[in-house]
Amino acid sequence: MDRYAVLGQPIAHSLSPRIHALFAQATGARLDYTAIEVAPAALAETLHRLHAAGYAGLNLTLPHKIDAAALCAALSQRAHRAGAVNTLIRTDAGWHGDNTDGLGLVCDLSGNLGLKLAGLRTLILGAGGAARGILAPLLAQGVAELVLSGRTPWQPEELAKAFAALGPIRPCTHLALKGDSFDLVINATSAGHAGQVPQLPPGLFAAGAVAYDLGYGKAARPFLEWARTHGAARTADGLGLLVEQAAEAFLRWRGVRPQTAAVLASLRAG
Ligand code: ATR
Repeated sequence: MDRYAVLGQPIAHSLSPRIHALFAQATGARLDYTAIEVAPAALAETLHRLHAAGYAGLNLTLPHKIDAAALCAALSQRAHRAGAVNTLIRTDAGWHGDNTDGLGLVCDLSGNLGLKLAGLRTLILGAGGAARGILAPLLAQGVAELVLSGRTPWQPEELAKAFAALGPIRPCTHLALKGDSFDLVINATSAGHAGQVPQLPPGLFAAGAVAYDLGYGKAARPFLEWARTHGAARTADGLGLLVEQAAEAFLRWRGVRPQTAAVLASLRAG
């Protein structure tokens, strides 16, 4: 039986084992997918050990996505660009690192939420690792303008420079957003994990605008509640992204992309 695992810290509440068990059931695959708690200091040794033990694939979640990229034998172009990996595929030479988060986001926004991304004025809040992973796929969809905003200008400026060749991207600070409005606002900050919302000016949401949080559950609530009371017409958390990035990982491992709608519905039902 092929073995897979997700590595993270903390990992106890990861939904990935449940998602991949449902994918396996739906596609008739026989596989074992477990969650393994790994401290940052043990990541290199664990990746080596699981490769030697014959694991077919791995997922990485917080806090390992960036460190694991440096431990791969090879990286896909998009993983290289994102500077982070969430999916490892076994090769004889070691782990091949890929990143399916951006594709998962685009699938969720366009497939599950029915958004036509081309032409949307888009704002990304936060300029850390999570933001970095979604810039290229959003620009590839032809969003009208991608504004990248942080508490200070430095990180947004650095990221905007690194991705400038891929499309119209503009760095900004949260406070300097005053007067701008957007069709899609994506929260890529980690503020929600501390129950917080970045300090933002009012008027960010254009008519019919969508607010999206890359997180799900409790972490997504502060921003989405703020968005509802500040004019967002629709809100969505990142549970769909989680399921879609998992389907893309499953495709890379097993050559078949599982249907996601029933899995997402099952997770939403609790
Ligand atoms: P990740 O690597 O997952 O993106 P991170 O780098 O720890 O996580 O955090 C992402 C961003 O969240 C940070 O870049 C930070 O953005 P800025 O410093 O550019 O504003 C933002 N962030 C973290 N905590 C925050 C808070 N309490 N309020 C607002 N922004 C916050």
